[in-house]
Amino acid sequence: MKIWHPFTQEKISSKPLKIVSGEKEYLYDETGKQYVDMISSWWVNILGHSQPEIADAIAKQAHTLEHVIFAGYTHEPAENLVEILSKHLPNSLTKFFFSDNGSTAVEVALKIAYQYFLNQGINDRDIFINLEGAYHGDTIGAMSAAGASSEYHSKFKKFFFETFSIRFPKNTEDEELSVYELERFLKENHQKVCALIIEPLVQGAAGMKMYSPQFLDRIVEVVRKCGILIIFDEVMTGFYRTGTMFAMNQVKNKPDIVCLSKALTGGFMPMSLTVTTEKIYEAFWSDDWNKAFIHGHSYTANPLACAAACATQKILQTDEIQKNIKMISETHVARLNELPNKNLIAKRSCGTISAIDLNSSKLAKNVANLMFEQGIIMRPLNNTIYFIPPYCISIKNLDRAYDILTDFLK
Ligand SMILES: Cc1ncc(COP(=O)(O)O)c(C=O)c1O
Repeated sequence: MKIWHPFTQEKISSKPLKIVSGEKEYLYDETGKQYVDMISSWWVNILGHSQPEIADAIAKQAHTLEHVIFAGYTHEPAENLVEILSKHLPNSLTKFFFSDNGSTAVEVALKIAYQYFLNQGINDRDIFINLEGAYHGDTIGAMSAAGASSEYHSKFKKFFFETFSIRFPKNTEDEELSVYELERFLKENHQKVCALIIEPLVQGAAGMKMYSPQFLDRIVEVVRKCGILIIFDEVMTGFYRTGTMFAMNQVKNKPDIVCLSKALTGGFMPMSLTVTTEKIYEAFWSDDWNKAFIHGHSYTANPLACAAACATQKILQTDEIQKNIKMISETHVARLNELPNKNLIAKRSCGTISAIDLNSSKLAKNVANLMFEQGIIMRPLNNTIYFIPPYCISIKNLDRAYDILTDFLK
């Protein structure tokens, strides 16, 4: 095999399954076997596979303009997209910087935050605050921002910049202790901190770990009082994953910078956005070239990706999809409620995401294997089983996944 697959120990993993086509929530392999994609193909494919309107939008754009350098040039699909998204973002978030994936959206956010202070002559704010267990991507900066405790990245810690991790609260009663520890750290160090970066409400790769909007509001208040910038990494939580368009819709305190990717293009094209405030942008607005944000990628704001994103955002707001988002969220709550307690440590849901912690990773793997045999694709995170389906999924298929899990637990 010549292809080196991501997040895979190739020696001990089974041969990758060759997928030849997809339609709605289904994927099909070479033999024609049908699978329900219960994880939206790495959390990107919110409207189903090969969605015809998105495919048509890309094809139409490809016949008109496939790409143009984005420094010194602009184009309609990018302009349309930011107009659409502006309607859903807080009024304070007005400046859109394009890049290619979740990790680069995070890199851009970190660099903008750091340079925001530099451009004002402040050069000693170089610590980032994160939430214990965070995952912000696999590039060096994104790994650094998540901190050395990450199980995925600790081997690279030699290259990391300094961070402080807020303790992940065990429950709501425990939140005050985390806030107390944060305040204690800030008392000594607040002038050295650049930004807080956090996955709002749900930490994806940590195992769909959830925490309360009240906790998020509280830590944002504490941090913001010290003049520190707030970055929300909504790469996974954006576009109705948590039930609302963005997780930030569920809190009072909005971020200074937000990172968006994954579902932005409906899973068709790699693209991301880092959106920030007028105030931050103004710190870069200057006659001095040195104060510009010198960052860009070859495919920045690729017109095909922008066309896919515009089509995705339009479909996302239709009654049909909105109804199904509600159906998925309600089904999660109802079916989690009915799960037998055997072999189960914890269960939780937030909007269209549900997660169940089992007694061991082996059990979680067994569940995944069983589902796979029965034509459902899911990918546990250690001992956590989670469902994060495309919004076009039928209640029948969602129920089927819960039936298999329920029978297994029994
Ligand atoms: C919260 C969060 N941020 C950033 C990333 C990185 O995104 P990408 O894999 O597109 O680089 C991920 C990926 O899972 C994520 O969940």
